[in-house]
Amino acid sequence: MKLLVTSKPMKPFVHPMMKVLLLLSLTTGLLWILMQLTEHQYTWNPSSYILSNSWLSYTDDGGGPESACDCLAILQDDDEEIEKAKLLSLSRSFHKRVQTPDEFYINATQDCRKFKTSRKYLTVTLNKEEKDFPLAYSIVIHQKVQNFEHLLRAIYAPQNVYCVHVDTKSAASVRAAIEGIVSCFPNVFLVSQPVSVVYASWSRVQADLNCMADLYNSTTTWKYFINLCGQDFPLKTNLEIVRMLKSLRGDNSMESEKMPGGKIWRVTNVFQVVDGEIKETGKKKDPPPFNLPILSGNAYIVASRGYVHSVLKDLRIQKLLEWANDTYSPDEFLWATIQRIPGVPGSKWPSRKYDMTDINAIARLVKWQGHEGQQGSLDAVYPECQGNHVRSICVYGVGDLRWLLQQHHLFANKFDMDSHPVVVFCLEKYLRLKALAMRD
Ligand SMILES: *[C@@H]1O[C@H](CO)[C@@H](O)[C@H](O)[C@H]1NC(C)=O
Ligand SMILES: *[C@@H]1O[C@H](CO)[C@@H](O)[C@H](O)[C@H]1NC(C)=O
Ligand SMILES: *[C@@H]1O[C@H](CO)[C@@H](O)[C@H](O)[C@H]1NC(C)=O
Repeated sequence: MKLLVTSKPMKPFVHPMMKVLLLLSLTTGLLWILMQLTEHQYTWNPSSYILSNSWLSYTDDGGGPESACDCLAILQDDDEEIEKAKLLSLSRSFHKRVQTPDEFYINATQDCRKFKTSRKYLTVTLNKEEKDFPLAYSIVIHQKVQNFEHLLRAIYAPQNVYCVHVDTKSAASVRAAIEGIVSCFPNVFLVSQPVSVVYASWSRVQADLNCMADLYNSTTTWKYFINLCGQDFPLKTNLEIVRMLKSLRGDNSMESEKMPGGKIWRVTNVFQVVDGEIKETGKKKDPPPFNLPILSGNAYIVASRGYVHSVLKDLRIQKLLEWANDTYSPDEFLWATIQRIPGVPGSKWPSRKYDMTDINAIARLVKWQGHEGQQGSLDAVYPECQGNHVRSICVYGVGDLRWLLQQHHLFANKFDMDSHPVVVFCLEKYLRLKALAMRD
């Protein structure tokens, strides 16, 4: 008894130097683990993350028909898997199963919380860097709600703002589905003044202008403006987009080059819309205001907040807009022309030395049929389309995926879940995994 009481267990003696050493080895160990983790964040390799699914990554557990495809193999240009996906895309039953009707969205968005959770929308900002650099999007659509919803989900982040322009001619079910989706997000809204968009007419510009005005009036002080249509899809995560925009150092990025002789008629004749179609009137146009040089570009731009402010407020640009409103396809020269007006934030001088092609700009990647060909050919700009062509533009197939991801563009056109759903499934899955892997 006595013995037991007196034999109080003694604390083992540890020399103070040993304690210091132990602490040191522990911290270096932790540091080493941390370094491994951060290193991983910057050296992206799809195979190293494909298994690290969190609940926000797009998994195949929904039992979706797309789970039959091995996206990792497709991303690595595995011919066998690409062939398998192509065959699958040809099957009717597969197509039927991957189509989501407007009614689904109308119904599912009645319960927004459930909709956002089940569709795995990112409702938190992943990085401080993204939070400090909000973006503004203008999305112009008229059909194919499913494409739009996958696009929105891919670019959605709570710190950004999204203006959606639905054509006034759109079907009632399209409008209702989009209204339902938009109603689930405080930072996504419908344009205050929608228009009927007539191909190649001023109305296409008006749709973006109306969104620009609404976005500028929003309470978010966004840094860059990006306009999209329903058949675009991102090639980068929001963080990557933010980083690329930061590296522009305030510049805009868009096609802006000398107008080819074959397009001059578009700005020297007066056009008007008759019965929903653009027609020549036979009248000649006056030269542009201030004899501004008219440059050639396209409808899709990446523009600084200052550029958008100029578009809305600069009196020279107001005159230019008025002058352009009866030309042919003003969307394909207006932004490019404003990009070369002295004093516009982020613009370039009119000198041809500053001309920029769609390939060099980061705004939009489009594969035009006429520019496809073999590497090494003097005329070819890109390899052949692996999907199909719609109005001479490639609708990407799974065989285009690896090439797409090698390009510097933020967005590419065209994608279509009606004809090539697997390429969208694989792209969105890849981007989500990457976004999660690169979070703070
Ligand atoms: C409508 O949505 C609810 C839940 O949001 C679901 O239970 C129901 O089955 C849906 N109905 C149809 C016709 O899709
Ligand atoms: C800007 O937004 C406010 C409300 O936030 C609204 O009252 C006002 O009409 C808007 N102005 C424009 C030009 O849209
Ligand atoms: C074009 O601008 C003129 C002058 O401001 C205006 O009268 C006309 O309604 C505009 N046309 C369109 C199609 O917006």
